[in-house]
Amino acid sequence: MLPHITATRFVTPLREGGSLPGLVEASDDGTYVVKFRGAGQGLKVLVAEVVVGELARRLGIRIPQMAVIDMPAAIARYEADEEVQDLLNASPGANLAVDFLPGSFGYDGSRPPTGDEAADIVWLDAFTANVDRTWSNPNLLLWHREVWVIDHGAAIWFHHSWPSRGPDASRFAIQPFDASEHVLGDVVGDLSAAHRRAAAVLTTDVITAVVDLVPDEWLEPAPGLDGPSEVRAAYVEHLTRRLESADSWWEAAR
Ligand SMILES: Nc1ncnc2c1ncn2[C@@H]1O[C@H](COP(=O)(O)OP(=O)(O)O)[C@@H](O)[C@H]1O
Ligand SMILES: [Mg+2]
Repeated sequence: MLPHITATRFVTPLREGGSLPGLVEASDDGTYVVKFRGAGQGLKVLVAEVVVGELARRLGIRIPQMAVIDMPAAIARYEADEEVQDLLNASPGANLAVDFLPGSFGYDGSRPPTGDEAADIVWLDAFTANVDRTWSNPNLLLWHREVWVIDHGAAIWFHHSWPSRGPDASRFAIQPFDASEHVLGDVVGDLSAAHRRAAAVLTTDVITAVVDLVPDEWLEPAPGLDGPSEVRAAYVEHLTRRLESADSWWEAAR
C-alpha cells in the first residue's frame, strides 16, 4: 500500500506544470506536490503516475516517494484564488501526493546521470510509451547532485481508449517508441544491458504488485472491465504483453 495522509494546508499552485499541481502540507508534517483528481486530465493520469513511478522505483531509478492524500473540503474555503478553489472543490477524496524535493531544479544537462542510469530511464520510457521526457519538457529534477524522475501522467496512454474501444493489449504490446527526442538520448550507455536488467526485475508478480498499489477509487470501469479487479488485470496484461513483445519496440527505439 502507498502511505495514506491528509492535507492540512494548501501552500501554493505550481504554475510551471501543465496540470496545475499544488504544493501542500500534510498530516505527517511532510510537504508534497499534489496532483489533483479534479484536474482536466482525470483519474487515469493519477493511475499512470503510480504505475509508471513505482515501476521506475523497482528498476532502481530515483523517484520521490508517493502517497495517497485526502483533501478535506475545508481546505478550499481558505483559498483566495478562484481557479485553485475550483480545482480543490473538484478533488474531494483521494489525490496523489509526491514528496516535494526542496531545492531541486529542472534538468539542464549540466550534471548528466551515468550511462547506465540514463539507459534505465530511456528503457522505462520506451516500455511505458512515455513521450514526456524531451528537452522542451525534461520531467527530470536534479536534487543532491542526482537525477530524479517525475511526471508520468502521459505514459501508458492505452487506458484512454478503454471507455470507447475497450482494452486491446495486443495493440499496445507492439506500439513502436521513438527515442530520438529523448532528453537523455546523448548520454545513454548500454541499452541492451538496460533491457536485460529490466526484464529480469519486472516479473509478472512485480508488475501485479505495482498495479495493486493504485487505490480502487481511481480505477474507472470501462466496457469489459466491470470493477477494480478487472481493471487491474487489464493493466497487468498490457504491461506483461508489452514486455514479452520487446523485440518489436525496443530495437526500433534505439
Ligand atoms: N517532487 C517534486 N519536487 C520538487 N518540484 C517538483 C516535484 N514535482 C514536480 N515539481 C515541479 O513542478 C513542476 C510540474 O510538475 P509535473 O509533475 O511535471 O506536472 P505537470 O503534469 O504539470 O507537468 C515540475 O516541472 C517541477 O518544477
Ligand atoms: Mg511536467
